[in-house]
Amino acid sequence: MTQNKNIIIANWKMNHSFDATEEWLKSFNKEIEGNNNLPEIVLCPPAILIDYCDELLLGGELEILESKGNNIEELEESQIDKLATDIRKVHLGGQDCGYDEKGAFTGDIAANMLHDAGCKYVILGHSERRKNHFESDEIVQKKIVTALKNKLVPILCIGESLELREENKYLDFIKSQILSSIPKNIEIEQLIIAYEPIWSIGTGKIPSKDQISEMADFIVGEIKNNKDLKINGLRILYGGSTNSQNTAEIMSVNNVSGMLVGGASLKAKEFAQMAVLAK
Ligand code: PGA
Repeated sequence: MTQNKNIIIANWKMNHSFDATEEWLKSFNKEIEGNNNLPEIVLCPPAILIDYCDELLLGGELEILESKGNNIEELEESQIDKLATDIRKVHLGGQDCGYDEKGAFTGDIAANMLHDAGCKYVILGHSERRKNHFESDEIVQKKIVTALKNKLVPILCIGESLELREENKYLDFIKSQILSSIPKNIEIEQLIIAYEPIWSIGTGKIPSKDQISEMADFIVGEIKNNKDLKINGLRILYGGSTNSQNTAEIMSVNNVSGMLVGGASLKAKEFAQMAVLAK
């Protein structure tokens, strides 16, 4: 059920301008140039920057293809797309999507829009959306269904508050988040679950290796033992105050296949170092 390939995801949240994005990609590409031993890398910029990132990534890929002797002028668009996709090292993701396909939802973005703009992934149920936009597990579940219909791999975020951890109620809470957020009885090819304790996001506080390990094993167990959940490829990530100093330790935890990175992903060099370590 679990998938082996590691994955590292940058969640820029509401940060970076067009100029900063160009700088970031230039610097990041330089850092990883020639390195073919990388995990899957996903960049989730603000929605307005997705298409721009796709364009910049494609530009870099065309340069590589040309340097390898391909005559781009002679190729059809679909052939170029295929070649570029084959060498793509950075994939794109949205930070959220609407639960409906389209309609009167001011300020929201539809899953098919993300897909059309070049996204493969979408973060859903981030604790900041749950808190600031009052998203319930039921809404998150609807969003997962819509994301899957639109060929996006959902990155479901779950995680307990400090209070629940201190009261020793965190496992029950995570279990209820899993049960009410993941759609039942539908075949899910790929699901990523990011365990992000709320008390660790942006705080510099990080759970111990044993605490992360307990949670990763618990999530895998809950999903495996539930006959109504039909997930073929599951990856568990850790998120919250990750950086290049703690990456190696987190990645050594059994059942952890990657990280969802906030603050540290804003700096290209730092994120590139983490990507190299997350292999
Ligand atoms: P952080 O954020 O790495 O800045 O703690 C993680 C997240 O919110 O996904």
